[in-house]
Amino acid sequence: MAATEDHSTTEAQSPAYYVTTPIYYVNDRPHLGHAYTTVAGDVLTRWHRQRGEKVWYLTGTDEHGQKIMRTAEANGVTPQEWCDKLVEEAWKPLWQHLDIANDDFIRTTQKRHTDRVQEFVQDLHDKGEIYKGGYEGPYCVGCEEYKLPGELLPGATEDEKLCPVHKRPVEWLEEENYFFRLSAYGTRLLEHYAANPDFIQPASARNEVLRFVEQDLKDLSISRSTFNWGVPLPWDEKHVLYVWVDALQNYITAAGYGSDPERFAELWPASVHLVGKDILRFHAVIWPAMLMAAGLPLPKRVVANGWLMVGGEKMSKSNLTGIAPTDLTSHFGVDAYRYYFLRAIPFGTDGSFSWEDFTARYTSELANDFGNLASRVAAMVGKYYEGSLPAATAAGDAEQAVVDGLKKAVEEADRKIGEELDFAGGIAAIFEFIKLVNGYLSEQEPWKVAKDTSPEGQARLATILYTSAEALRASAVLLNPLMPATAEKLWVSLGAEESLGALAAQTIATVADWGRLPAGATVTKGDILFPRLEEKPSA
Ligand code: MSP
Repeated sequence: MAATEDHSTTEAQSPAYYVTTPIYYVNDRPHLGHAYTTVAGDVLTRWHRQRGEKVWYLTGTDEHGQKIMRTAEANGVTPQEWCDKLVEEAWKPLWQHLDIANDDFIRTTQKRHTDRVQEFVQDLHDKGEIYKGGYEGPYCVGCEEYKLPGELLPGATEDEKLCPVHKRPVEWLEEENYFFRLSAYGTRLLEHYAANPDFIQPASARNEVLRFVEQDLKDLSISRSTFNWGVPLPWDEKHVLYVWVDALQNYITAAGYGSDPERFAELWPASVHLVGKDILRFHAVIWPAMLMAAGLPLPKRVVANGWLMVGGEKMSKSNLTGIAPTDLTSHFGVDAYRYYFLRAIPFGTDGSFSWEDFTARYTSELANDFGNLASRVAAMVGKYYEGSLPAATAAGDAEQAVVDGLKKAVEEADRKIGEELDFAGGIAAIFEFIKLVNGYLSEQEPWKVAKDTSPEGQARLATILYTSAEALRASAVLLNPLMPATAEKLWVSLGAEESLGALAAQTIATVADWGRLPAGATVTKGDILFPRLEEKPSA
């Protein structure tokens, strides 16, 4: 085997925190499921930016293969025209709309990708990792994957078999193909999983992969010769590269592999590949084996998210509820959308969306607990101090409880969101803190204290309002990765921009340092953060 010893990897430290999403097929428009993974990656990278780290967030589109070719044909355009249209009219605009701060957008039809892909496979070919052979078997164009006969479902007739994911008939393919010697990598993969227990997350995903690799791995067919929408194999141009082998390489081609060694050294190995659980094997088995064969370091983590479900089935292009991401954002707003899916579904497990649940969380958590707190505090600073934040001169145990609560929330949120990718848990920790501040305000009753005109009474009023505003200052920083537009509004309304500078420049390391917001800051009421919802649009 030509691969050398230098593949090992998780010890390798790239200086940047590099996060990727799957690159999505552009046979259709993005749906809630795609947006789910992309928002998660955005929150993760924004969190690390808020830590002051160097971060790189990559997303993009997977544009080759039979599925896209057929869609283009059905629409009477070339595959390239189809991809260009969908990318520019559907995919990029949605990510912009959802406030996704990706640093790069890779398309597999770009020359910067295809040239490098050809070099990569040529290298594997030269090393004897690729050989010519024949293959026949059931193929699902929806998955772009050969299926094992045992996993198929019965179809309408005796001869018909269905893909277990798409519930559509598979096709029987017989081809002369090139193969990658995947079977040679089983032991090394298992060694890698054992030495790096965090490589595949969550545990259920890791177990699934272990079980799969513990059986004998088969060599992988990596070329197709019955159609030509793909990257030609450099040594045999009658074949195009199997779309998955082409697509997986986006993570390195976008990072400067073979074109910009400095950038590549900075970005690779990736810190986290975010993937849906449906494409786990490609990322946790095939991709690492390809990297080993090429002598490149492996990504540090592959983290699988669960599926958004509709009526017990994976939400997909063929199984939509008819709800597009923009149907939800136009009703709830972009930030509530970013919040809802990550808050409601523990990352890694399947979850269902419902209008009722979204509405309930919007109203109780976002509008009542958080939005109201912000507007009440701003209103009282306006009413009692003409919008100039007073100093806290009479802090006691109740205030200390808020200070302590903040420390705990920061520690928990940082660990859960930044390290464990437990978004629901991290968001819950931040909202626990917001609840605590609400409780503090209700107990302290500043509206009553305001009637006490003694110096003690006035000092208490100032202290209560300062404490609440300072807690909101910290909340804005903690919520910035999740709900950037809302956090920014709050930041501005607290007068924090003038005194502390840009919200993006605040770091997680200093967010719990109590007293950062200076007395005298100009607090204004600003827009309501989460306005009352209109009636649910009728279907
Ligand atoms: N093009 C491949 C990925 C290549 S990566 C080198 C692909 N594309 S896809 O358009 O089908 O999108 C797959 C990803 O979208 C899933 O892995 C997942 O991250 C996301 N989701 C698609 N449907 C989803 C749900 N119903 N629920 C959650 N995520 C879903 O596969």
